[in-house]
Amino acid sequence: MPDAIVCENLVKVYGGVIRAVDGVSLDVPEGEAFGLLGPNGAGKTTMVSILTTLVRPTSGRAIVDGLDVAKHPEEVRRRIGLAFQVSTADGELTGRENLEVAAGLQGIPAPEAHRRIRELLEQMQLAPAADRLVKGYSGGMRRRLELAVGVVHSPKILFLDEPTLGLDPQGRAGFWDYIRHLRKDTGVTLFLTTHYLEEADQLCERLAIVDHGKIVATGRPDELKQRTGGDTVVVKPSHGEDLAPILSAVPGALAVQVIAGAYRVKCDRGEAMVPLIVTACDRAGVEIASVEIRKPSLDEVFLELTGREYREEDTEHGGWASERLGQMRGGRP
Ligand SMILES: Nc1ncnc2c1ncn2[C@@H]1O[C@H](COP(=O)(O)OP(=O)(O)O)[C@@H](O)[C@H]1O
Ligand SMILES: [Mg+2]
Repeated sequence: MPDAIVCENLVKVYGGVIRAVDGVSLDVPEGEAFGLLGPNGAGKTTMVSILTTLVRPTSGRAIVDGLDVAKHPEEVRRRIGLAFQVSTADGELTGRENLEVAAGLQGIPAPEAHRRIRELLEQMQLAPAADRLVKGYSGGMRRRLELAVGVVHSPKILFLDEPTLGLDPQGRAGFWDYIRHLRKDTGVTLFLTTHYLEEADQLCERLAIVDHGKIVATGRPDELKQRTGGDTVVVKPSHGEDLAPILSAVPGALAVQVIAGAYRVKCDRGEAMVPLIVTACDRAGVEIASVEIRKPSLDEVFLELTGREYREEDTEHGGWASERLGQMRGGRP
């Protein structure tokens, strides 16, 4: 498979100091669903903005569908679709009108545009709401409309920046189905960013976990989870005692790590380990505040690689993206 996207040592520095993207190299073969997973501020939107020609990299190279984004921005734009993390649909227009504007910007001739728009409204189950103003749409409907806008010109590569930000879990799961169908029907290459662990797990064939502008791990979701190898039992002492010698001596303890005052014991099966740990601490006269079994997850991978908990809930709507969107609307960076 030829590569749809290649990044070579991409760097983006804002204002001379903020290294939003800090030496990222990756490749995405055609037809793959690739995800960038990372917390807020990790550099995801900046990555998408570079790949979609909205932001120039400080250094390094980005190739999209065989074209250098810095040298051939217009050609790249014709081949890609984009839906940004902030809502982009115009509330004062109907769903159909939003799609007509998008088709017009893409230079699709009217008869073809009408056919395409009808098809997309059906696919996204928006036909009954097509002639209503978008300001009356639910969050899920808006997201579907934005997805339709992103693919109105049948792009080869689709970029989705946090496509389900702000949707409730049910709305999110519903939206994933639309994306899955779209991929099945069109074979479009998908490059999506998310800070939802479950979204990355469900939707992406391959992932790069990003933090502070750098890739900290790449692989299939199941491969990444295997990296943590087995269960982890997290033990917190009541009075800050050093548990390392006690826990290391428990039969079945493969490794002991301390992160933020919590002891993490690697083992094959957490359920078998907990009673042994409790007994060992009891014998040593140490009082335990809590014991918890953690199964292999992307959350655990992130914690092990960065020494920090991955926090999904701290969502914050980026203001930068909306500025860029204005550029996109105008058609010029
Ligand atoms: N236009 C900009 N000017 C200055 N700093 C920016 C700009 N856009 C993003 N940043 C900063 O770059 C870092 C990465 O931001 P961003 O790419 O939006 O991350 P994410 O999408 O993962 O939340 C953050 O520290 C953010 O504040
Ligand atoms: Mg972002």
